[in-house]
Amino acid sequence: MGFEPRTIIEPFRIKMVETIAPTTPEHRREALIAAGYNLFLLHADDVLIDLLTDSGTGAMSTEQWAGMLRGDESYAGSRSFYKLEQVAREITGFKHVIPTHQGRAAERILFGTVCDATSVVPNNTHFDTTRANIEARGAEARDLVIHEGHEPAVIHPFKGNMDLDRLRATLDELGPRRVPLCMLTVTNNSGGGQPVSMANVRAVSAICHERGIPLFIDACRFAENAWFIKQREPEFADRTPMAIAQELFSYADGCTMSAKKDGMANIGGFLALNDDEWAGRCKNLLILTEGFPTYGGLAGYDMEAIAVGLREALHEDYLRYRIRTIEYLGEKLITAGIPIVRPTGGHAVYIDAGALLPHIPASQYPAQALCAELYLVAGIRAVEIGSVMFGRPRPDGGEEPAPLELVRLTFPRRVYTQSHVDYIAEALLYVGQRKDAIPGLRITYQAPALRHFTARFEPLASPISRSPLPPERKGEASRKKAGVGSEAAP
Ligand code: F0G
Repeated sequence: MGFEPRTIIEPFRIKMVETIAPTTPEHRREALIAAGYNLFLLHADDVLIDLLTDSGTGAMSTEQWAGMLRGDESYAGSRSFYKLEQVAREITGFKHVIPTHQGRAAERILFGTVCDATSVVPNNTHFDTTRANIEARGAEARDLVIHEGHEPAVIHPFKGNMDLDRLRATLDELGPRRVPLCMLTVTNNSGGGQPVSMANVRAVSAICHERGIPLFIDACRFAENAWFIKQREPEFADRTPMAIAQELFSYADGCTMSAKKDGMANIGGFLALNDDEWAGRCKNLLILTEGFPTYGGLAGYDMEAIAVGLREALHEDYLRYRIRTIEYLGEKLITAGIPIVRPTGGHAVYIDAGALLPHIPASQYPAQALCAELYLVAGIRAVEIGSVMFGRPRPDGGEEPAPLELVRLTFPRRVYTQSHVDYIAEALLYVGQRKDAIPGLRITYQAPALRHFTARFEPLASPISRSPLPPERKGEASRKKAGVGSEAAP
């Protein structure tokens, strides 16, 4: 028997480094107050480990950087566009590939073309920009994820699945005139980065197509979803992530893509679809607001980086390491008694802040409060996915809370190593032990839409737990950062 390692290693070595430096607790407190307790408003230099998002924050490969130098900056007919078109077509099979500067631009162009104020768009769960772009048309964004998708502690292999009965009922009630398209988000970001099974994609596709309604995939994390299908759906155990992704897209009529996720690029996206008439109208809107259809708001070098990145995202070694990293942190938090969405999803660990901080009601934003505390204690920036992001005003002047109060610890691709993950776990353990002292928050300013980006808050009680990691723990963390990490990921 040969060597069969239990340790799943980072399948890359580091050629260029970017220094990160710890800040003092006093500095972080000042920075947080200046930012109105909104971590979106911090200077990134004041953050030690940035888990705000996996969007555009990844490290590019040598091949991607090499591609950047080959970028063709021609206004029309750029060679780099045709490269991107070829890869996107190979993976998705869709006829028209329309580049955009990021995912939400693809959404705006699609919904701006096919939705009006009478439209309803079903999805497992709309991401915030998807919902906002539908609502900006006066249309309704309807979430129809299976009920397990709302239960953080319930183990289910495909918690991102669409509830087929509710989908059928919605489509039968409204018909194709009110439902111009149906979406399916893979993986389901707002529901915990949870995957959708191929069986569910097939069923959703059949239900939509029997009723003459096109199906579009929100494809941001299609490669991570393909990996979960390979691991959890026996029929696909021996198929490559590429073959799985190709089959998944074959059941749909188009997709919106943010290449800042599984495109492994720092910027970019595309809209891809089969329908000639819709594509023509989308391209006209693209020319008006993004750019000519062979660049769509991107530089030629961006399209090169995406063309290479889309393939790299499907490498098995990469996906094994990527998903294992998330699972590894999840296991440490579960052991420490921190409630998380289970099983862990594709790009992030989601802490159930509602369950962790029962003393803070939804109206005092427990997930935002936990984000603030984690930053104060350890310089880690996470993001709230709860009532700040998804709370709705009620006619009585109150607020309808979000179904879940989650804190997302989102992993940039190929950026942090195992010792960073150990530090994050250690910090959360410390915060978890002092959780009863974390105060709720009150909003002092909010914008009418997508308020989470700019809202300002203040704590409701004087913060008690304001001490940094104890000195001996700090030493341990810095030793590990220097590469003396003792705990191997199994
Ligand atoms: N759809 C999903 C499922 C997303 O997660 C995002 C972005 C978008 C669409 C929009 O793409 O940012 O390129 O315009 N999600 C990021 C996040 C911002 O942090 O989860 P974009």
